Amino acid sequence: MLAVLQEHLVRDTRVAAADRDVFLHRLPQQLPRIVTSLSAVYGSGPEIWDVVARAVLTAWDAYAERPADLRDLDRQREGAAPWFTSREAVGGVCYVDRYAGTIAGLREQIPYFRELGLSYLHLMPLYESPAGNSDGGYAVSSYRRVDPALGTMEELAELAAELRSQGIALVLDFVFNHTSNEHEWARAAAAGDPHFERFYWIHRDRTLPDAFERTAREIFPDDHPGVFTRVDSTPAGRAASPFDPDPRWVWTTFHRFQWDLNYANPEVFHAMAGEMLFLANQGAQVLRLDAVAFIWKQLGSTCESQPQVHDLLRAFRAVAALAAPAVEFKSEAIVHPDEVIRYVHPEQCALSYNPLQMALTWEALATRDVTLLSAALAERHETPEGTAWVNYVRGHDDIGWTFSDDDAARLGVDPAGHRRFLNAFYTGRHPGSFADGVAFQDNPRTGDCRICGTTASLLGLEAEPGPAVDRILLAHSLAMSTGGVPLVYLGDEVGQLNDPHWRQEPGHGDDARWVHRPRRREADHERRHDLFSVQGRIFGGIRGMIAVRRRTPEFEGTTLIPFDTHNSHVLGYQRPGEHSLVLCLANVSDWSQFVTGETLSGFLPTATLLHAQSEVDLRGGILLEAHGFRWLRVIPVR
Ligand code: GLC
Repeated sequence: MLAVLQEHLVRDTRVAAADRDVFLHRLPQQLPRIVTSLSAVYGSGPEIWDVVARAVLTAWDAYAERPADLRDLDRQREGAAPWFTSREAVGGVCYVDRYAGTIAGLREQIPYFRELGLSYLHLMPLYESPAGNSDGGYAVSSYRRVDPALGTMEELAELAAELRSQGIALVLDFVFNHTSNEHEWARAAAAGDPHFERFYWIHRDRTLPDAFERTAREIFPDDHPGVFTRVDSTPAGRAASPFDPDPRWVWTTFHRFQWDLNYANPEVFHAMAGEMLFLANQGAQVLRLDAVAFIWKQLGSTCESQPQVHDLLRAFRAVAALAAPAVEFKSEAIVHPDEVIRYVHPEQCALSYNPLQMALTWEALATRDVTLLSAALAERHETPEGTAWVNYVRGHDDIGWTFSDDDAARLGVDPAGHRRFLNAFYTGRHPGSFADGVAFQDNPRTGDCRICGTTASLLGLEAEPGPAVDRILLAHSLAMSTGGVPLVYLGDEVGQLNDPHWRQEPGHGDDARWVHRPRRREADHERRHDLFSVQGRIFGGIRGMIAVRRRTPEFEGTTLIPFDTHNSHVLGYQRPGEHSLVLCLANVSDWSQFVTGETLSGFLPTATLLHAQSEVDLRGGILLEAHGFRWLRVIPVR
């Protein structure tokens, strides 16, 4: 097979001989991966060779189109140590329209991103999508066209190049579980084209939909019950006839207008591999694999995180490694922690959101107790060599309590009751709660509920600014120091509050997540250098942490060693360096807390407080003020 492919590629005159050799050099490593992963999904009969050959040719076509500067980047990255485990890697995320209006407007913000210290920028989906509700752009109508209101694909590629020249990697979404119902494939399927009907899960009666719905989870119950919805094949602008409805049902895990792709059909894999590499060729250095857990459906299962999901990921990864090896995958699997970690592998996703640390940071701030968070850091923080977490305080989505029930029960916590408490706490229903949050997809039938709100609003900035600023800095200090890429939801670094008008925007009224996706407020940013303002205190604090992290060699890499503070209100962990360690302490309670000299007796008495560049004596112990944290360079006693 290798020889046949080689011969084909040699005859293709689009690529110069030297560049072709680079591709051919990658082939012996990636081809076996493609064969193994695709045959695990599509069987090992003779047809598999056609599937494999098409995958390689898709990679080759994309390689032929790959701009020279990106090919250079590929060569630099291949075999080099990963950039994303560096202490300099810090991310920001924003919506282009809400943050800067257009791609051109966003370009003007690059000096600000540099001022903050970012080296990674995730732009929320900016592709063509349905007018009105498009799930924040996660209903993609074309992967090759930018939403015309934001700009063009050429502008996006230029932005990527400009960011790259300023040391910032562009991160784009690869929304590959579903397309919008307005994507040309979906339109063709709705019109009855059998080739494109097979791109989706379309059934002409309820037999299979009923069978699947017995075990598949409802994700957006406010939008529709179960996972299937009726196909609406009525031409736009005409009302569906109640007398002659379309009999077909289509799988829609999320909204009715987001049609799940059918990866059991290898055509879908090929088509999506082509779209993925198109995005890679625009200059994205990380692709965020949206809703990855859902891409394979298996009757009788939850239809989440099935083994074939991992096989397909390996296949996508190997195809990307052939055509665009500088591109990394980031997994968006907001599932049980046992499952989240299975996506984190150099041959799948080198990066992954860390929903457990995110959720337990909020949990610790509500309970003023670090037991669950500290166990998670000790037992669930490690990732394979060459991979890293993306540690975020909050994202554009809701906060869900994705901790393991078994972990909680082992630590004496009733998982269901605890989730009820956390939901009540963050929606402000719990007496004494500081939070101003909104419930999302509250499902009385299953008891499921998630939380919306900006970091500042959830941490009480309006009601009690003083403690809230400290809590905001504390939460960010964890994301900045546990190891992995810290990711700031842009605007949170100046304490942005909930958007009180979120319901009024067209298409947003039914989706409470818009409460925490406000437009950029210039007034907040203007105060960022005023240290007497809350904006200035938060901005100065976060920017200071980024600067300290950058100059601290112990923050390189991802290794974390637990540290028992003997105080359930104070989280402790160590980041090892060559001759010293950084000991991180964080008090999640509303009162001062003490870590005794005896607890710290494993270190030499003199330590350096990194943010103040001053020395402290550990023999007398460390007193942390309410919500205080310390990053201390310590030397272990030999
Ligand atoms: C992911 C996105 C979320 C979206 C969903 C469907 O979970 O983060 O915003 O609603 O996928 O695409």
